[in-house]
Amino acid sequence: MNIRLTSGKILHILEGKSILQTLKREGIYLVSSCGGKGICGKCRVRLLEGKVGSVSTGRLQPPDIDRGIVLACQTFPEEDILIDIPKESRLVVGDRIEVSRSRDLFELFQSLNAKIFPIVRWVSLDIPPPTITDNNSDLERLKKAASGKGLKDLRFSHGFVSSMATALRNANWKVNLAYTDAPEAILLSPMEDKNRYGISIDIGTTTLVVYLVHLTDGRLIDVGSTYNSQIRYGDDVITRIIHASEGNGLDELRDTVVSDINTLLTPMGERHTVNIECIESAVISGNTTMLHLFWGLNPAYIREEPYIPTLNSFPLWKAGAAKLNINPQAPVYTVPCVASYVGGDIVAGVLASKMHRNSEIALFMDIGTNGEIVIGNTEWLVTAACSAGPCFEGSGITHGMRATEGAVESVRIDPQTFEPTLGIIGQGKAMGICGSGMIDAITEMFLRGIIDRKGKFVKGLETERIRKGLEGPEFLFSSNEGRDIVLTEVDIENIMRAKAAVYAGISLLLQKVGFTFDDIERVYIAGGFGNYLNIEKAIIIGMLPDLPRERFRFLGNTSIAGGYLCLLSESMRKEAEEISRKMTYVELSVSRRFMDEYMSALFLPHTNMGLFPTVEKLLTIK
Ligand code: FES
Repeated sequence: MNIRLTSGKILHILEGKSILQTLKREGIYLVSSCGGKGICGKCRVRLLEGKVGSVSTGRLQPPDIDRGIVLACQTFPEEDILIDIPKESRLVVGDRIEVSRSRDLFELFQSLNAKIFPIVRWVSLDIPPPTITDNNSDLERLKKAASGKGLKDLRFSHGFVSSMATALRNANWKVNLAYTDAPEAILLSPMEDKNRYGISIDIGTTTLVVYLVHLTDGRLIDVGSTYNSQIRYGDDVITRIIHASEGNGLDELRDTVVSDINTLLTPMGERHTVNIECIESAVISGNTTMLHLFWGLNPAYIREEPYIPTLNSFPLWKAGAAKLNINPQAPVYTVPCVASYVGGDIVAGVLASKMHRNSEIALFMDIGTNGEIVIGNTEWLVTAACSAGPCFEGSGITHGMRATEGAVESVRIDPQTFEPTLGIIGQGKAMGICGSGMIDAITEMFLRGIIDRKGKFVKGLETERIRKGLEGPEFLFSSNEGRDIVLTEVDIENIMRAKAAVYAGISLLLQKVGFTFDDIERVYIAGGFGNYLNIEKAIIIGMLPDLPRERFRFLGNTSIAGGYLCLLSESMRKEAEEISRKMTYVELSVSRRFMDEYMSALFLPHTNMGLFPTVEKLLTIK
């Protein structure tokens, strides 16, 4: 049996495999947020010919079914079929994505009064070449020269020694020897070669960023970024952990992310004539699950109570062990984690924010695929993770999508007619709603009286935009060629749950340390979604505390910024370790007080209006 695509491509179907599995095997990926469980409703394809067996999971609307739309993960061909894959169902992960490139990285480094002290150090060795009468081995000669420079008891791996003889002769016995503190020899290069390179990598659940850095002066040479192709196996960390425990899922996830990084590295090296084999060190930052997957460690126990990772503090393993396409002997520093759901990305973020050095009480928030918060100052730090993220990246929302072309990113609703005006990324047709669009939409619907404080549609309004859908009431934002973009009451409930989790997390942490919202002197917002967050609207829906707006600062991708700092300096690595040790992790999922806070925050903006005086004023004026 075969699947024929409208493009003409023909794919053979293996016995018992779904359309999604068949497409995936052939390298054609669909948006599959739930990892193929039939829950997200995103893997839609249009069946044009042929008979199939489908499992109904109630995720398709009758008009979709009438058009021949099926869920690829729940549909099993029974004969040759012809399908069309709509644009919005295609997962494009190879694209270069926009990253917040910090222009002032080196300035940040200098502001921390740190000195450049990379992971690898160098010593120049002028080794006497062998002669017929001086016939010591190459290694003996190298050891003797190194010992003359005070480097005793150096260790030599098989990998180093196997390329040593040629490297010594190619450099005419005048070499630079790179070594670590262990002390261990890492690589040899000709003495005249003064260039030294390292990479900092941020492995996000959704995106990947690589910085190529000159280690002598801290110069950022190039930035590479792409989607994390692990998205093929599900959007959030839980779906990935489940996939890692199935068959060879762990290897698949590991190979996928390493291949993404290597694919970014090759053109970066070519663009700057840097032999990537000469990259001498790397720093990896990311959440605890991503770091486990990168190193091929089973993340299964992260998900099971009592939520214990295999490790928080990673040894200085080699690039070869990770299959990174740099010098295989290069040490890879992993930014330490705090707990299963507060990873190296948050430690790196705190480091880059400098909140751990200041006496003022600061709140650090990273709202990405998950939501992590840290509160503290130079004396103490408390942290927690709240399951806030995936919905703001489109997961679990009927027409949710990432902030890419076709996403509704801003919404205005006319107070009289209730007609919406949409801002769409790329200015084409609306294909879905991204996180900032969702917050805009809920704010507008709330301020225009379309939904009440519980997020429920107000009955009796004169507009055909509110209609009855498969999951109950919904608001129609746009309609294009049979594809309606709506926000359902269930979607609104999911978004309100996410925003309530963030606010309740902050509230609980503050209670733990005996402070109130007013004590927060600075709010740092990091993470991809943070870049597009409208502070005013996030306050109106009750996701952010109602604090003076000048206290909020956007920091962009602090995970990669912190990784860069660790790549450059030993004191920064020590500081990151100190931060991870100092942070007190609070497990929210077992806290009854958190549940109380959460329930109170499930309103717009909150049950207690007194916590949102500016919103209260806005509603009164209205
Ligand atoms: S419904 Fe098919 S991947 Fe989620």
